[in-house]
Amino acid sequence: MISKQTIDEILLASKIEDVVGDFVALKKRGQNWVGLCPFHDDKNPSMYVSPRLGIFKCFVCDSGGNAVHFLMEHEKISYPEALRYLAKKYNIHIEEEEAKTDEELAQQSENESLFALNNYAEKYFIDQLFNTEDGRNIALSYFKERGFKESTIERFKLGYNPDGWDHFTQDALKNGYQMKHLLKTGLTKKTESDKYFDFYRGRVIFPIHNHLGKTVGFGGRILKKDDKTAKYFNSPESEIYHKSNILYGFYYAKKAIRTKDNVYLVEGYTDVLSLFQAGIENVVASSGTALTEGQIKIILSQTQNITVLYDGDKAGIKAALRGIDLLIPAGLNVKVVLLPEGEDPDSFSKKHRDSELLEYLEENSVNFLLFKAQLLSKEAGKDPVKRAEMVTEIVNNIAEIRDNITRSFYIKECASLFNLEEEILNVQLRKVVWKKMHQKEKEPSIQSTPSTTQSLPQKKPQFTENQLNIIEKNIILLILKYGMYQINVEQTIYEGTQIVPMRIDQYIFDEFHEEEIQFSQSILQEIYEEYAFIASHAKDQDEIKRYFSQHENKEIQQFVIPYFLNPDPEFSQEWEKRFEVFTYNSLNNIEKLNAEIVDHINMFKLRILENYKKLLLKELQENKDDEEIISIILKKFTVVEQRRNELAILLRAVITK
Ligand code: CTP
Ligand code: MN
Repeated sequence: MISKQTIDEILLASKIEDVVGDFVALKKRGQNWVGLCPFHDDKNPSMYVSPRLGIFKCFVCDSGGNAVHFLMEHEKISYPEALRYLAKKYNIHIEEEEAKTDEELAQQSENESLFALNNYAEKYFIDQLFNTEDGRNIALSYFKERGFKESTIERFKLGYNPDGWDHFTQDALKNGYQMKHLLKTGLTKKTESDKYFDFYRGRVIFPIHNHLGKTVGFGGRILKKDDKTAKYFNSPESEIYHKSNILYGFYYAKKAIRTKDNVYLVEGYTDVLSLFQAGIENVVASSGTALTEGQIKIILSQTQNITVLYDGDKAGIKAALRGIDLLIPAGLNVKVVLLPEGEDPDSFSKKHRDSELLEYLEENSVNFLLFKAQLLSKEAGKDPVKRAEMVTEIVNNIAEIRDNITRSFYIKECASLFNLEEEILNVQLRKVVWKKMHQKEKEPSIQSTPSTTQSLPQKKPQFTENQLNIIEKNIILLILKYGMYQINVEQTIYEGTQIVPMRIDQYIFDEFHEEEIQFSQSILQEIYEEYAFIASHAKDQDEIKRYFSQHENKEIQQFVIPYFLNPDPEFSQEWEKRFEVFTYNSLNNIEKLNAEIVDHINMFKLRILENYKKLLLKELQENKDDEEIISIILKKFTVVEQRRNELAILLRAVITK
């Protein structure tokens, strides 16, 4: 197997024009190359190769893709064979995943030794817990006092490291384990005077397992209260224990997380055990630290729903809030349950019957927004400035939500919670989304006027779609091709109007939002929504084009690629004609683009109004006898007409029919 890293390296190095050029004579045309398509009987060059997008595309037979795809199709070879071909061409050494270097082999056997030792230690500690006098009298009785059943103790493989100095270490050495491994796993430590001792001596043991159930580390808890030493000792980070990629309890919880499609996130080892014992098996612990991205990925492998269950004290609340800020952008649906002050899931579950616990969790889980809002609201009191800050903070969180529907749901909830107009929050939300876009732009965000690209003789696409569809498409194309360019738009400010420079994407975004316009074709709506988030990361327009032309959704790829490969579309002068004619010519100045964008938006609105008018007419006919309905419809009609006329004036066009 070729490693992912090598594949990335190969793809990065491959120049599409070189790869295709090895088989097809290419001629430069503008920014692209053209040649006879080898995949059909081509008489005129109809295959385009775009270095910018890293793809080839034939407009006649519709074949297309990146360098690897070209080779696979042209040479009739497999994916790995194509990669090998490219690696050879670009002198890239192929890192085979199976073929390990000596160093890797040594590391592998080292890791195996560490696992073997941990495994041995785990068994040793269990044996000590159940089968020695001290173990039973001191450690097992401690667990039982805390309410843990033997079945729970066995399930989580809890154990005991006897008190003394180095009982375990001696035993392990006697059984052939090496000191260097004992030290590496942290089971054994060395004093300054070079004496070796059991790190967890006199402590009960909580083994920590990875997602495959292998023992990667341990937590050792002190039995008696002692302020001089830490309550828990934990294994150090090692080759087999990467703390940021381990969630305590995940191995045992995995199945339940999937069936319940939810995971409870708690803080500590004992919280996991207690909930598990109470029948709530979909529980994992972050082990007292902030969640990491790696841990979030582990959760996302099983579910998108998480309920954060933290102590009701200040630290717990803080941890919950911090968690939220990480979990939301990761795409998780977050709920929070706060326990009564002074309780943690462990103590709380011990005071209540299993059914009561579950009931409490279900009744007290609130979505993150409400949780945060309640908290902040209490903090801010009636201070208007603070309240405004609080709303901003919550809107910031909402802006991180990728899913459009969920986002608007939260906006609604937030509006009713704070007794605010939804639109005010929407304005705020848009600002945040746009600010995020601009933040990332260290490089110039506004692109200069595109240079004149040369025109191509091109078959006119035969549009059979209705007019609305065509305008919609054009708007999306304008965003994708020119979103970051700047135009001048007229804005109404108080009584007068003012010409302000604005990015094209922002202008379209605002207009659509204002009138609650949605695209009628779902693929366009999808592109549009994704664009807003992509644009916040993209450094220039080309990056956006590259993203969409290599989109995982093939349908999107197929939609955008032909447009990207062609020079700029020119929208014809008379607006009626635009519905039928869509020629590819050069776009030679920004003013023209400016006018096109504004016109397109207005045309779009106009079309929507016309459709709406048709609906009203139909409704009118269906309700001929109902005077009340008729008067309502007529009122609507008047509004629509008025709006339509305004738009018509803007479009400087006479509306026929
Ligand atoms: N922790 C730690 N070292 C400490 C204290 C805590 O590593 N000195 C980690 C442990 O993973 C612990 C988690 O933080 O499970 C939560 O801490 P805490 O709530 O104090 O511990 P509990 O698991 O609740 O343990 P107990 O109920 O035994 O007090
Ligand atoms: Mn706790």
